[in-house]
Amino acid sequence: MSDSSTSASWSRRGFLRAVGVSGGAGTMFAAMGALGLAPTAEAAGATAAFSAPSASDFTLTGRSAASVVILGGGIAGLISAYELGKAGYRCTILEPRSRTGGRNFTARGGTTETDVFGRKQTAAFSEGQYMNCGPARLAQWMVTLDYCRELRVPIQVFTNTNADAFIYNESAGMTKPERYRSAKSDVYGYVSELLAKATSQGALDSELTSEDKERLITFLQGWGQLDSTSLRYTDSGNRGYSPYPGAAGTPGTSLGPVPGLSEVFASGVGRYFSFEFGFDQAMLMFQPVGGMDQIPKALTKAIGAEKVRLGCQATKITELPDGVTVEYTDAHGHARAISADYLIAAMPPHLLAKLPHNLGPSVQTGLQAITPASASKIGLEYKSRWWETDYQIYGGITETDLDLTHVWHPSYDFHGDRGVLIGYYNYGQNADMYGKMTPAEREARAITLGTKIYGPKYRTEFASSFSQSWRYIPHIEGAWHNTPDGGPDAPVLKPLAHPTGRTYFAGDWLSYMDAWQHGAITSARSAVTQLHTRQLAAAV
Ligand code: ALA
Repeated sequence: MSDSSTSASWSRRGFLRAVGVSGGAGTMFAAMGALGLAPTAEAAGATAAFSAPSASDFTLTGRSAASVVILGGGIAGLISAYELGKAGYRCTILEPRSRTGGRNFTARGGTTETDVFGRKQTAAFSEGQYMNCGPARLAQWMVTLDYCRELRVPIQVFTNTNADAFIYNESAGMTKPERYRSAKSDVYGYVSELLAKATSQGALDSELTSEDKERLITFLQGWGQLDSTSLRYTDSGNRGYSPYPGAAGTPGTSLGPVPGLSEVFASGVGRYFSFEFGFDQAMLMFQPVGGMDQIPKALTKAIGAEKVRLGCQATKITELPDGVTVEYTDAHGHARAISADYLIAAMPPHLLAKLPHNLGPSVQTGLQAITPASASKIGLEYKSRWWETDYQIYGGITETDLDLTHVWHPSYDFHGDRGVLIGYYNYGQNADMYGKMTPAEREARAITLGTKIYGPKYRTEFASSFSQSWRYIPHIEGAWHNTPDGGPDAPVLKPLAHPTGRTYFAGDWLSYMDAWQHGAITSARSAVTQLHTRQLAAAV
């Protein structure tokens, strides 16, 4: 460290001490925020900037960290405890399930789950095989990856789009699947041909200068692989080959014949292509090595497992002028109560709305403005990785208009002996339909429909399944949410996003990224920042 930087940091500390002494800790904390050292009041609730609370924030304030009860050991609850713990807050998490993570749930051999209908499943997956029943992919910009870095949870690429995966739209008359690459080549090719023709024939002259037209046509020739003189989409090789090109004498045979324009648009394949541009879904994406639950496991360890009370179901919340009391039933069925200075309610809002509480009618109205949405998945373990050996598909997603909706190829253990496909990942009515079936019925339907896409090995190589429908999982009862217009800034949610009492709220449902851990984390950070700011400014 140079002399000048030493003196700069020294004088900044001196400045902070001076404002701390003359203006009180609230002033000092605000000044720290202005210097980028602590969250400002304005920044409380901001998602971009976050300064983790630190024990040193209390220096010279005469104040100290408080006690906090956290309802829910999902990602929002765990992040709240983890971040507050950095400043010495005494956190206790009450979690009704037997494990932390909430919807971040990975099923492996031996994992058990009993749904609200009382149907118990035990996964029989082989050693090393797993399925992520909830979150399964992380975009590079998501703060979730920052926690993977901080907690040393190794990550690997999750293949979200794959040119060799299939599209199968049975209702459009497809009798066999088509590769993504062929479907894209045809759709982009014909769209480009039409636009290039319209442009060259003058249909867009009121929109485009002659230079614009030239540049657009050049782009379309490349984008759609058009013939440079006729501007027609013809077989370019982008559709794929069978057999593949190889050594001298084997140039490969390009897939054909190229279907006509009407046939391409009638197939409906183009509806899937905008997915890969999505801000939250664009490649590259990532997953923790060994299962998404490595994140809650690492968080729980960092927090201290003794601070998490599993099997504890909250039954009543009472906010008092100087604290909060939560009554709950413990893992042995005994009625208990815990009091703390603050509460962070990080549980599903529709379940929270059913708890007796005295948080006021506007809080209740806000909670009731959020309703749960459904999603379900089945993991199908196979005795071989036939999708790699027979179809050369390594990860990525097959899309279909069958009620399976999405079929995922595993993005781990490539070339291994066995593998777990996600045989369906669907939402809404389809998810509810599968959720109401018995696990055996789900398995039978998933295999029967999957066989239409992939052929007989979908049945003959099958080993075992595990299925999960979040709407019917106790203490969660939803995959994600229907939220009001305006998201977390909707007026009806203001009492939850910016509460005035001693109870704060956190969850993906209270963020602009519902259904993502990033949303749960940023919401938890907002609650933590608001709580910490309040505690720092509290009367001594
Ligand atoms: N985040 C969820 C997904 O990626 C919705 O499927």
